Amino acid sequence: MFQFPKGFVWGAATASYQIEGAWDEDGKGESIWDRFSHTPGCVQDGDTGDIACDHYHRWHDDVKLMKDLGLKAYRFSIAWTRVLPEGRGRVNQMGIDFYSQLVDALLAEKIEPWVTLYHWDLPQVLQDEGGWASRMIVDAFVEYTDVVTRALGDRVKNWITLNEPWVSAFVGYRDGRHAPGHTNLNEAIAGSHHLLLSHGRSVPVIRANCANANVGITLNLTPQEPASPSMADRKAATWTDGYINRFFLDPLVGRGYPQDIVNGHGNAMEFIQPGDMEVIAVPVDFVGVNYYTRNIARAENVSEAENEPRTVIRGDEITEMDWEVYPKGLYNILGRLYFDYAFPAIYITENGAAFPDEVDADGQVDDPARLSYIKRHLEMVSQAIHADVPVKGYFVWSLFDNFEWGFGFSKRFGIVHVDYKTQKRTVKSSGRWYSRIIGEVMA
Ligand code: FCB
Repeated sequence: MFQFPKGFVWGAATASYQIEGAWDEDGKGESIWDRFSHTPGCVQDGDTGDIACDHYHRWHDDVKLMKDLGLKAYRFSIAWTRVLPEGRGRVNQMGIDFYSQLVDALLAEKIEPWVTLYHWDLPQVLQDEGGWASRMIVDAFVEYTDVVTRALGDRVKNWITLNEPWVSAFVGYRDGRHAPGHTNLNEAIAGSHHLLLSHGRSVPVIRANCANANVGITLNLTPQEPASPSMADRKAATWTDGYINRFFLDPLVGRGYPQDIVNGHGNAMEFIQPGDMEVIAVPVDFVGVNYYTRNIARAENVSEAENEPRTVIRGDEITEMDWEVYPKGLYNILGRLYFDYAFPAIYITENGAAFPDEVDADGQVDDPARLSYIKRHLEMVSQAIHADVPVKGYFVWSLFDNFEWGFGFSKRFGIVHVDYKTQKRTVKSSGRWYSRIIGEVMA
């Protein structure tokens, strides 16, 4: 069915706040997601990550489950607040020990750990100083990177500095739908820059602390297609592409911030200091792409009747997130990352779908729609590899059903079902299928 090169990395992904729980245990400090989810009205149904999948207490069994699934790699993130409860300075050894034991257990089962340093749970104390909008965050992030990579760099080789800086900056500081819940465009723009700068400054630190490190950054990339060939729709697609994709991709490869977006935001970005853009453009070993769907761009300032008829129509297969299932978009973005941006290697660090799953009378969870989603996206990965794009691995999002940010527990992305009342894990049919494919491809 598909062909994948030897050494292709087969994994599943999670993030600390979404699965760990134990939000105030063993010396952990408060993060912006603790604060946000504890603020009434911020998260659907008042859900919080206080317990989540209780992975903090169940990691041992969870690693066994990963082994049974045959996973070759596991992408997880570190909670900054477990390691440095005050954001900087005092190290909490219990936090280090937790991740260190997890890493050892993974390695014992021959599962490669892939660590994301930042998946959105900023220490609240640093937010109180301005968070990502303030330049002070860069030194704090570098310090945090240094502490973690000194502790784990002898065993962990694969490092992702940031997960989806666009979401951190724009959904957190401009849209207010994520922590810290601000609605200030200028904070989002400054935040983007300080995120990228933190990435650039921490790459050499990781390399210094970890021999043969494989270091990259993960971006959420959404291909944009104009709804019609009209100039107005092209303009809309160029804007959203620049705003979500180019604003992060271009500076990473040394092209600076795209001028159309800088002009469009109307922020002169005077906080950029000499040398910053060179720091951001530090060569990476790979780029990670999180892909879920495409966007069909339609001009907002032209009425439907005045604009040209739509030629690109949204398909009718839609996930529970209201995202169109569009595997071809993954193929397109992979090609672009290599042929337009020349990244030396590409990993799909997230791809998956939320559907309303049900546990049947026999205790099974049959999820054909998710299975089909993953299968068709893997076919696109396989095709991209055959077109010479250096895609080196794939991580399904997610290993577990988990806390889906502002949606709380209402959206299930797991290949493993979690009953939040009992914490029982049930491998879904998509998980069993994925497990079988890994076994077949690796054989
Ligand atoms: C991505 C996030 C991940 C998860 C998926 C559905 O944006 O990185 O944590 O929430 O979306």
